[in-house]
Amino acid sequence: LLAGPDGRPLAGRRAVVTAGPTFEPIDPVRGLTNRSSGKQGYAIAQALADLGARVTLISGPVALSAPIGVDRVPVETAREMKAAVEAALPADIAVMSAAVADWRVDGVASGKLKKAPGGPPSLALIENPDILASVSAPGKSRPKLVIGFAAETSDLEANARAKLSRKGCDWIVGNDVSDDVFGADGNTVTLFTRDAGDESWPRQSKTEVARKLAARIADHFKA
Ligand code: CTP
Ligand code: CA
Repeated sequence: LLAGPDGRPLAGRRAVVTAGPTFEPIDPVRGLTNRSSGKQGYAIAQALADLGARVTLISGPVALSAPIGVDRVPVETAREMKAAVEAALPADIAVMSAAVADWRVDGVASGKLKKAPGGPPSLALIENPDILASVSAPGKSRPKLVIGFAAETSDLEANARAKLSRKGCDWIVGNDVSDDVFGADGNTVTLFTRDAGDESWPRQSKTEVARKLAARIADHFKA
């Protein structure tokens, strides 16, 4: 079997992609977030759709328009992202590229916090659910191929391999974020897989990284 019904290699396949940061409220006007632009995840959603997959893109707040032919679901918090991912399953492919906030504020204020003579408020944080780990858990609706990301400033290989086994996913796209990545158009990644060796890709545009990853995914389903 070389191609699906419409001739494209991922025709008939469903994919769920997460992208962008999450936003965790502190009060009605403030929140915790991070520097993810969503560009890499959006490019992956587009590349999978271009190969014929039916793609649901679960997106945190970003300044990007929806890729053509992709069903975009906007979310803010990690918990909303998790619920949207679960609603989009079953799927054959999951690519979790979102920079999910590791923590949220415990006890979000219902009104705007005001400066007070007592000094600044202290924020109690609690850990967010790990979406990648829960999607990777064995079960009936586990996608056949689950891919995570690892953004690291040092020890890329050791950290990425540790995440591969801790989270139970099949592949990890390791991202060297000591390089210029956030908001940039280029990316330097290494693909770590469970069964094969590492593959370091030269720095290239996020669009090229996405096309290459989508092609690897298509090869995986062809095999
Ligand atoms: N991820 C997730 N849900 C979370 C945290 C992370 O789905 N609550 C996913 C990310 O989308 C990414 C992968 O897990 O695909 C790795 O994220 P990363 O932040 O590198 O890993 P953590 O386990 O959060 O470890 P740390 O931030 O401490 O390095
Ligand atoms: Ca994290």
